[in-house]
Amino acid sequence: MIVDLRSDTVTRPSHPMLEAMMRAEVGDDVLGDDPSVQQLEAMAAQLSGKDAALFTPSGTMANQIAIRCWTQPGDEVLMDAGAHPFSYEAGAPGAISGVLVRQLPAPGGILDPDTVFSSIRPANDHFAPPTLLCIENTCNHAGGTVYPLETLETLGSGAAELGLRVHLDGARVFNACVAQGVDLRDIACHADSVSFCLSKGLGAPVGSVLCGPKEWIRRARRVRKMLGGGMRQSGYLAAAGIYALSHNIARLVDDHRRARRLYDGLTSMGFTSTEPQTNILYVDVPSARVAAEGLAARGVHTIATGKDVIRLVTHLDVDDAGVEQALSAFGALAERT
Ligand SMILES: Cc1ncc(COP(=O)(O)O)c(C=O)c1O
Repeated sequence: MIVDLRSDTVTRPSHPMLEAMMRAEVGDDVLGDDPSVQQLEAMAAQLSGKDAALFTPSGTMANQIAIRCWTQPGDEVLMDAGAHPFSYEAGAPGAISGVLVRQLPAPGGILDPDTVFSSIRPANDHFAPPTLLCIENTCNHAGGTVYPLETLETLGSGAAELGLRVHLDGARVFNACVAQGVDLRDIACHADSVSFCLSKGLGAPVGSVLCGPKEWIRRARRVRKMLGGGMRQSGYLAAAGIYALSHNIARLVDDHRRARRLYDGLTSMGFTSTEPQTNILYVDVPSARVAAEGLAARGVHTIATGKDVIRLVTHLDVDDAGVEQALSAFGALAERT
């Protein structure tokens, strides 16, 4: 059996999801008449507690539209140095929005409010004006870590006092919701805009949603068009998203439980790993690329994210048997090293 732990993006739509897609009513969304896309956007707005929402082809596009719509060229955008919009989106903040990214340290992927606020310089013609703070929850590069709600509240209210907007990159925000037992709106209320991915733990094949104020989403729709993200009969994809939001949120606890089982098994074999708060682990292994090849030979696919680090991500296509298979492949690796 193949156990693919490279990412939660590798899931394939389930049969019921495919059936929902086949039943979808569609229109031309660029002309504004796809009822399934409209239903998804209304659902996302309601879940996030924001006025409106926009369906985008990817999380990258949602983040970059948000940056573009909250800033002017020459502005400064603050974020964790390892944050996705800065580190993994192909230089887009500079290319698309003409902004400077101020990279902040974020131990464990969590920005410390004192660090953020003390890095903001006073208004002065020499400085790029800071106008936007980006927060990633859960934080991918730190191992799916979850922001404490109090930290989000301090960041959100402090940013508002200083005149900064807050965009929450919530690619995996539903993992945070499930880990903390809260609704999306309890997290999103601390940000001006929030994006989330349908195509990660929620299991849809494509798509993300950007949520925010009504007039701002109207501008975001225009920027999506400019970037080539206007999609026509995208209701087929929206139907997968509606299915995902209706059926696949609560079950994320299973992914978290399996990540924990991986952690317990790996640490009992002597491996060192980040302790999972949600569905991601980074495991220390010497010569990660060679190790990943050895694991793949046993049907267990992982990603070497550093010279000596492997990433494992649980998702709805990895069951308990898959987790045990992964542990026995790591067991064979431990015997060899
Ligand atoms: C935290 C985070 N934000 C944004 C994205 C971008 O999503 P997409 O791959 O849909 O562009 C990812 C993808 O892995 C991510 O992990």
